[in-house]
Amino acid sequence: MTDAIQVERERGLLTLRLNRPDKKNALTRAMYSHLAEALQQADSDPGINAVLITGSAECFTAGNDIADFIQQPPNGLDSPVFRFMHNLLECRKPVIAAVAGAAVGIGTTMLLHCDLVYVSRDARLRMPFVNLGLCPEFGSSLILPRLLGQAKAAELLLLGESFSGEQAAAWGIACEALGSGEETLAKAREMALRFESLPPEAVRISKQLMKAPDRELLRKVIEEEGALFTQRLRSPEALAALTGFIKRH
Ligand code: COA
Repeated sequence: MTDAIQVERERGLLTLRLNRPDKKNALTRAMYSHLAEALQQADSDPGINAVLITGSAECFTAGNDIADFIQQPPNGLDSPVFRFMHNLLECRKPVIAAVAGAAVGIGTTMLLHCDLVYVSRDARLRMPFVNLGLCPEFGSSLILPRLLGQAKAAELLLLGESFSGEQAAAWGIACEALGSGEETLAKAREMALRFESLPPEAVRISKQLMKAPDRELLRKVIEEEGALFTQRLRSPEALAALTGFIKRH
């Protein structure tokens, strides 16, 4: 367990707060492990109705810790990042995200698998995988072209263009864009607490129905992306880009 993930329980809502402000909440292996475990516990605890994933009012996350990518790259399905994303995808309870500031890499990818997403208008979302010599991950190569069309998805995934919270809401990646980080967190919490007064079995079945049609295809795509992503992490292109980031900081 790491202090960089704060777990708070408020009645039936479990909040997982990314809390590594000095590194813009960049996600380490220890943080993924903690998130994976908390999601699993929330899923099996009948007292939990919903899970809220958030960062601070200034920053969601700068994505995977780049030093970790170089020193201890994920290697197979048992790696912390795969366990976290697996538990997120398989979570039977609603998962809500509140995003303000930067949401880079997996910080954007994970939103594609949350049930409700609230963003601040000026949030900056970005998937710079190609820019780092990598490739899309965890189903984004399937989900984004379907959601946005091939051309807009290519801007985001091939060029690594950043986009605002306002655009995320207009494109259907988020439910709503709000004025400030504080407003975003408050709105997401309010919506997450609504699940307390809804019948949990009906919520669970409805979420399952919404996810079922794509589940098998998504698993296959994630497997293909994962194999290529882990190969790419060890490629000269990626190593040059990742070490370049470390040298600049
Ligand atoms: N991994 C490790 N450390 C990171 C990090 C990451 N993904 N992102 C930021 N940091 C660290 C920086 O090294 C810096 O640490 P230092 O103060 O010890 O030098 C600190 O966080 C602040 O980062 P900085 O870049 O100065 O903040 P900023 O406000 O100017 O920019 C971001 C914020 C998120 C836009 C920028 O840090 C960024 O682009 N980070 C990389 C994102 C990325 O490529 N993630 C991987 C995607 S696969």
